[in-house]
Amino acid sequence: MTTPRPRMTPDRLRSRDWFDNPGHPGTTALCIERYMNQGITLEELTSGRPIIGICQSGSDLTPCNRHHVELVQRVKDGIRAAGGVPFEFPLHPIHENVRRPTAALDRNLAYLGLVEVLHGYPLDGVVLTTGCDKTTPASLMAAATVNIPAIVLSGGPMLNGWRGAERVGSGTIVWEMRKRLAAGEIDYPEFLSRIADSAPSVGHCNTMGTASTMNSLAEALGMSLPGSAMIPGPYKERGAVAYATGERVVDMVWEDLRPSDILTREAFENAVVTCSALGGSSNAPVHINAIARHAGVAFDNDDWQRLGHEIPLLTNVMPAGAYLGEEFHRAGGVPAVMHELLEAGRLHGDVVTANGATLADNLSGRMTRDEAVICRYANPLVEHAGFLNLKGNLFDSALMKTSVIAREFRERFLEDAEDPNAFEGRVVVFDGAEDYHARIDDPELAIDERTILVMRGAGPVGHPGGAEVVNMQPPAALLRQGIESLPCLGDGRQSGTSGSPSILNASPEAATGGPLALLQSGDHLRVDLGRCEVRLQVDDAELAVRRERLEAAGGYAYPADQTPWQQIQRSLVEPLADGMTLRDATTYRDVARR
Ligand code: FES
Ligand code: MG
Repeated sequence: MTTPRPRMTPDRLRSRDWFDNPGHPGTTALCIERYMNQGITLEELTSGRPIIGICQSGSDLTPCNRHHVELVQRVKDGIRAAGGVPFEFPLHPIHENVRRPTAALDRNLAYLGLVEVLHGYPLDGVVLTTGCDKTTPASLMAAATVNIPAIVLSGGPMLNGWRGAERVGSGTIVWEMRKRLAAGEIDYPEFLSRIADSAPSVGHCNTMGTASTMNSLAEALGMSLPGSAMIPGPYKERGAVAYATGERVVDMVWEDLRPSDILTREAFENAVVTCSALGGSSNAPVHINAIARHAGVAFDNDDWQRLGHEIPLLTNVMPAGAYLGEEFHRAGGVPAVMHELLEAGRLHGDVVTANGATLADNLSGRMTRDEAVICRYANPLVEHAGFLNLKGNLFDSALMKTSVIAREFRERFLEDAEDPNAFEGRVVVFDGAEDYHARIDDPELAIDERTILVMRGAGPVGHPGGAEVVNMQPPAALLRQGIESLPCLGDGRQSGTSGSPSILNASPEAATGGPLALLQSGDHLRVDLGRCEVRLQVDDAELAVRRERLEAAGGYAYPADQTPWQQIQRSLVEPLADGMTLRDATTYRDVARR
């Protein structure tokens, strides 16, 4: 049962302060004349209709979201049909593949920009158009801060990619083909053509990478209409759900249903559990922790392990599985996964969601329609598919995505050791992606099939925004011997489309003085997944000497700031484990100006 909400009345709408404010006739007239010059009528602005913002994340620079430019016409139709007035405005572009030095640098920038728009313009509610990786968390973080009625509209994934009868998944194909290119099995034109196969239509990545994960989790949080997250971009249902989203946001305004009603601790717990069952991206903890902090919910990587680790993988979608977005949608999408989790007693069913109903009501009857793609809880693809939160003497927190640990990797590192959950190895350390590319094939490094590759200088300060570079492929010589992966560890992130079993997001990072800065090639590490621990096998006296030497040299060196925003972000950004939010930004809440 949902609790009846206080009804908003036309005279209490926030936009009235701009458009119907007799105490300030001059400023009111200026607001009105400059929108009437668009052909908007006086009646639309002053008769007590909700003014609804549509945050447009699509542009020629953000192709993953580009079709929102057309899709929002259906959103506007829905808003008008429900009696609202739509105002479209842009989100700072964020394109995962193209933005340099990294798209993650722009998540907080887009967040800041959207907060200012929602704070300072006459909007009673907002539709957040989302898609490419960081567009979703940036939008949700801002909605949490400002707290006006808000609903997410995903653009949906691309159609499946194909090469002959084989599915080709966005991003995942890149990781596979890079190995074949390095091993000399294919040439560059073939490499390019195979990667282009993965992108046959408009939409975001068709794998369960960060984009599909974050849009699915926006739905799991209750911030979008049920079943909407993973409708493929070109499907007719995508237009229909855009219309329904526009209609619904107007009612959310009248119901005064705000992000703070939806983004509760229970909702974040539901998102963590759902993420494990989806085989979701290792970027999800960073973004979900950030959204939670902006919503005033204390949430960290211990919560991810406690709630998420033992949840089984139910979703057979790349990179953890075999299928892509179209099959996932046809099998029932996010509601079918959550239906299994709710029946297994893993979700809070009584939370309210964007459509005004409870999660349990929304999931009623939404069973999987294809058990090969979305499994029953009793018959999962992998047991214990969530993240482990590793600790030790190198970092306070680092994540490992266990759903993608391949059998071959398990056999080589885990199952033949004395302790079936632990392994030890000699490390080879790289300082940033350039260093890795320059040296990975150097025979002097003596990398063999038991070496642990370490990447540092790749956190939010070392590489502004945090680089997706921890999943490092082995040297070509090992690839040619059939060694497809080595254990990797680092203070950066990795792409959600990668199936690499890396230890990533290590916090604190080397650039802020984390012990990773003391590591040297040739050191030995012991990784114990049973105890969730990584220990550097170097004694404290030696580490103290290294620390002194590092400090005498002025600390861990990283490239200089190239833009004003890089400098600002570096001076304020918090560790990946804390969501990479900006210091103090999370203390602002309910900032809708009146
Ligand atoms: Fe934009 Fe994957 S690159 S969604
Ligand atoms: Mg990425």
